[in-house]
Amino acid sequence: MPSTTRPSRLRLGFAGALAALLVAAGTAGGPAAQAGEQHRAKTLGDLAQRHGRYFGSATDNPVLTDTAYTKILGHEFGMITPGNSMKWEATEPRQGVFDFTKGDEVVEFARANRQKVRGHTLVWHNQLPGWLTSRQWTADELRTVLKNHIQTEVRHYRGKVYAWDVVNEAFNEDGTWRESLFYKTLGPGYIADALRWAHEADPKAKLYVNDYNVEAVGPKSDAYYALAQQLKAQRVPLHGFGLQAHLALQYGYPTTLEDNLRRFARLGLDTALTEVDVRMLLPATEEKLAQQADWYRDLTKACLAVRRCVGITVWDWTDKYSWIPEFFPGEGAALPWDEQFAPKPAYHAIRDALKRR
Ligand code: G3I
Repeated sequence: MPSTTRPSRLRLGFAGALAALLVAAGTAGGPAAQAGEQHRAKTLGDLAQRHGRYFGSATDNPVLTDTAYTKILGHEFGMITPGNSMKWEATEPRQGVFDFTKGDEVVEFARANRQKVRGHTLVWHNQLPGWLTSRQWTADELRTVLKNHIQTEVRHYRGKVYAWDVVNEAFNEDGTWRESLFYKTLGPGYIADALRWAHEADPKAKLYVNDYNVEAVGPKSDAYYALAQQLKAQRVPLHGFGLQAHLALQYGYPTTLEDNLRRFARLGLDTALTEVDVRMLLPATEEKLAQQADWYRDLTKACLAVRRCVGITVWDWTDKYSWIPEFFPGEGAALPWDEQFAPKPAYHAIRDALKRR
């Protein structure tokens, strides 16, 4: 900055020195004071921690080179979820040949910033390697392959991953089983097996089943409720239910979210909002952004209202790196920070909710 725009302290005189003192004390108005306040303001992670919860974000390896991005990612959140790098296609690209390079990179980032990690995901019908999907398997063969995949990955991250999304997206919208490779070959028992194998590999990790469109009470969340009851009765190590919470303004807010969280808590399970975003039809207007802020506030309040709702993770934090525009053309603006990393009304709404009580 040229020296003409920045008078030295010596040339400030009494009034200037007083102003500087007030700024330093955070009592004066103006941009410098606001910047000072922002610097001292607690992060979403800090605010959530005061409630015994975490506030986290997903991230992906390619964006870890963006230093303006990693500065906020490393500072603002208490939990990190790798968006892609712990999935099967990334971790076991050839049968029996494991590659944890990218997952390790995210874990190392989290460690350096004193953040916890949610592992995502061990058993899912998507992003499977070609060697697994391009041939037929007998039940015995697939059981061996699945057990080896789960246990090798969970063992690798033992002590480094706080919770695993062990099984992801097992049900259809109407509550029937999704006809995945695993279900078709092994039947519904693959879920209990997967949980038991993961537990053997890391007895301390919290084990979750996780899905989207399960925020409201309805056929799909009912299917998880019934499954959880059954697994609990059989003493299968299931510890949590993850509600992804990919919401969209045009489909309405899941008003039964809090009741839903509560019924799983009563079964003795933790719950977590694991992949939150609130998309909208573009262009984003002031009105839509205000409604989005209300939804972020409401879902944060719902989690805080239920003791066993342990935390909230946004599916990345900036619209710049959201998955939405690629998957839902014409939709977007789903996250609490915009593409320029400026906090949106949603960010302030989350803060408001976390500051209460
Ligand atoms: O890795 C390839 C790369 O080699 C290739 O050059 C590039 C070209 O498009 O594609 C890369 O793969 C992409 C992959 O992410 C890794 O970056 C895929 O195209 C892309 O479709 C894939 O999208 C991911 C999506 O899951 C796939 O299902 C998103 O990033 C990820 O955020 C998203 O996450 C899921 C959760 O796991 C489960 N819940 C829903 C959520 C949103 O779909």
